[in-house]
Amino acid sequence: MVATLSTVPFVDLSLQHAPIKEDINRAIATVLDHGGYILGPEVKAFEENFAAACGVPHGIGVGSGTEAIALGLQAMGVGPGDEVILPANTFIATVVGVDKVGAKAVLVDCDPDTALMDLAAAEAAITDKTKVVLPVHLYGQLVSPKELLGLAERTGVEIFEDASQAHLATRDGYKAGTIGTATAFSFYPGKNLGAMGDGGIVVTSDETVAKKVRSLRNYGAPKKYFHEDRGTNSRLDTIQAAILDVKLPHLPLWNAQRNQAAQWYDEKLQSLDSHGIRPMKNHSGAGHIYHLYVVQVKESCPINREQLQERLKEKGVMTGIHYPIPCHLQPGYADMGWGPGSFPVAEALGNEILSLPMFPGLDEDKVDRVVVAINEAIAGK
Ligand SMILES: Cc1ncc(COP(=O)(O)O)c(C=O)c1O
Repeated sequence: MVATLSTVPFVDLSLQHAPIKEDINRAIATVLDHGGYILGPEVKAFEENFAAACGVPHGIGVGSGTEAIALGLQAMGVGPGDEVILPANTFIATVVGVDKVGAKAVLVDCDPDTALMDLAAAEAAITDKTKVVLPVHLYGQLVSPKELLGLAERTGVEIFEDASQAHLATRDGYKAGTIGTATAFSFYPGKNLGAMGDGGIVVTSDETVAKKVRSLRNYGAPKKYFHEDRGTNSRLDTIQAAILDVKLPHLPLWNAQRNQAAQWYDEKLQSLDSHGIRPMKNHSGAGHIYHLYVVQVKESCPINREQLQERLKEKGVMTGIHYPIPCHLQPGYADMGWGPGSFPVAEALGNEILSLPMFPGLDEDKVDRVVVAINEAIAGK
């Protein structure tokens, strides 16, 4: 997707790749020269660099964010008979990760202002089978670290973070990846730190968990042809690790650019509050890394969310919805036992949220164009 003058794309990765194209090509060529495509030296280097950026000692590269959730949970000893509490409004992959280890996914509702997991609901859902509370740092904002740590201390339940949308996000002095026993990140291409294919990582301060994930991702073999665990094949490709290692040093700047663009949106959309356009709340200041910039289109808006999205598209402004159907209402998950009305906040958000264009390099001029287009659409122009 490349931006033209008249359109504002939803995401434009070419802006971040153009200045580092030579470095990426060189990194790929190095892998072609040494031929260590599986668990080559670039994997270890990137694992160490990413873990250090998060402020934890261990990083284990895996095949995707989904696998990072499954392997991280498995390494923490989560399995059949255990319950894992997670929000109903997340990308389905969070549920898939829990499913993969055979544990029961127990969904809870979310906060209407941030769309983050409702921690009071999470605590109320704890039973004697609960092994883990799994917050999702949705849209690039951390679920309150202080409240999470308080919950863990009060209840004895462990925390596992899904930070697939929150690379290097901070809140109240805490960083993504430092709150839970272990944390999953996704490197899906559109993420704040994206590979050029699939990829993920588990980071942890727990050496035992780290060792276990390292074994599990490689057929459960701590050494060749010796299978201590029932593992799988889910390794971060060397070429992807090489690309990610080139991109990692740029991540703080890219995150700051997203945060700046979000501040422009916040300012310029303020006058639309009375017209029912309400940005999700930021409780993290500069620590919110805005993987997505999401507004709610409330009932007081003269047009509904679908109409607004369609009119913006006609005006060349591309938007997304993250996510239109909460996990409990997905047809493939009907057997989880919930239905319409089970999680009213998540369901209302599913009908009202709209993600506006957001990517590093989104300049004030483009933000202005988006805001003008929203004003025109609402005014019926
Ligand atoms: C919140 C969340 N969890 C998990 C995932 C899964 O990551 P992946 O696509 O790398 O499997 C994603 C992204 O796709 C995500 O946004």
